[in-house]
Amino acid sequence: MNLTPVNLLFEDSRPGRRCVQTPGADLKAAVKGLPMEERRDAPPSWPETGELDLVRHFTRLSQKNFAISTNFYPLGSCTMKYNPVVHESIAARPEWTGLHPLQDDSSVQGALQLMFDLAADLGVATGLPGVTLHPAAGAHGELTALMVLRAWLDERGDHERRTILIPDSAHGTNPASCTLAGFKVETIKSSERGLCEVEDLKSHLGPHVAGLMITNPNTLGLFEDDIAEICELIHECGGKVYMDGANFNAIMGVARPGDFGVDMMHLNLHKTMSTPHGGGGPGSGPICVTEELTKYLPAPAVVENDGEYKMVTPEASIGRVRGFHGNFMVLLRAYSYVKRLGAEGIRRVAENAVINANYLRVKLRDHWRVPHDRICMHEFVARPKREMRDAGIHTLDVAKRLIELGYHPPTVYFPLVVPEAIMIEPTETESKETLDEFANALIQVAKECLAGEEFLHDAPRNMPVSRVDEAAAVKKPQLAFRQGE
Ligand SMILES: Cc1ncc(COP(=O)(O)O)c(C=O)c1O
Repeated sequence: MNLTPVNLLFEDSRPGRRCVQTPGADLKAAVKGLPMEERRDAPPSWPETGELDLVRHFTRLSQKNFAISTNFYPLGSCTMKYNPVVHESIAARPEWTGLHPLQDDSSVQGALQLMFDLAADLGVATGLPGVTLHPAAGAHGELTALMVLRAWLDERGDHERRTILIPDSAHGTNPASCTLAGFKVETIKSSERGLCEVEDLKSHLGPHVAGLMITNPNTLGLFEDDIAEICELIHECGGKVYMDGANFNAIMGVARPGDFGVDMMHLNLHKTMSTPHGGGGPGSGPICVTEELTKYLPAPAVVENDGEYKMVTPEASIGRVRGFHGNFMVLLRAYSYVKRLGAEGIRRVAENAVINANYLRVKLRDHWRVPHDRICMHEFVARPKREMRDAGIHTLDVAKRLIELGYHPPTVYFPLVVPEAIMIEPTETESKETLDEFANALIQVAKECLAGEEFLHDAPRNMPVSRVDEAAAVKKPQLAFRQGE
């Protein structure tokens, strides 16, 4: 991989490369060509309030938030790592925020170059050279890739292949995306080792199979050892392999999915590359595909010709999947992340994520049941021991008790293949001290569970809200802002 680390975002150290749009570029010149009806003739009006009231309002709100900047957040499957603040200031620069998506190509050469270079770097990192940055989230990437698959099948006149095989440990978005894209789903069993069961996969193969969607590392935090054989089987059967790459944090810079036979994958930039996951904020789920599938990618795609960047429609494009060019600010942060770390740094991120998860797994395995107790990737799944459950304690009680102790609970009751699951993802950004403190907290909670402590059912006792009616919260969410809160 050749991801050249650079010190300054706006300077490109590669010979013959120049970033056209530098800080301080004239924004007035940049809006040239923007249709008159799209321009404001007055500033937007904002609600009037005193500065102090505003500061108090936002300070109060921020204190109600649970954030990685104050506490440990080992939320499995969500990669809640620390994201360098410098990337926020890069994304907030007016040279970027002042751009308008309808400006003509000649006035946004820097932004186009950034997207072109980021796509190229992601292609190198995944071993899949065709990249679109448009999808707004992981699930959107899944849907986009399935539309690409469908376009490929349709062009071959292969209208009978309408089934996607998905292991039972998959993230819920996988079958949902298939259904949305008009495919049927057949479920493949997981083996005792927590991996896709190859014999079961073989029994599902046939002329109806369009492809396989497989998460790797999978949702149990395990690397699919048989992935190369699995890809071969799907190809022999006439289908394509889609890898859910939301867990790429564990293998980036170490393994390239294109090398072990994957045809398409998505990345969750809002987990792996410097934008926080969750909170309903903007995300980005680029997809990377083989050379063969590149012509079906969404429009527009950025191309370079003699140092000039422009947007074109790929030959057999599935069309637009999103307004404009995806969530550009997330792409900016990802670009900064990749360029600052370089290939070496990116590999170290993955290695440290794996080391941290294994450190915790080994510290906790005598106190919690770890169903697949062997080297894991960036996360692992545990569950309460039988004696704890006999004492009437459930995983939900453990999660609530951890809130009392100052931790964001790990993901619970997922993946579904492990009953009472607790899924722990420490990420690479945490220190050994934090991991030790968290391990001690979980060991303490295990002892409380074994002692059948009654207060576990009432936790958290130190929060404005203790237990909520989860079913009612889902069915009747209160989404409106209420004055005075
Ligand atoms: C394995 C896996 N697949 C898919 C997704 C969906 O990504 P998003 O929430 O961005 O749609 C996630 C979310 O974290 C995930 O962990």
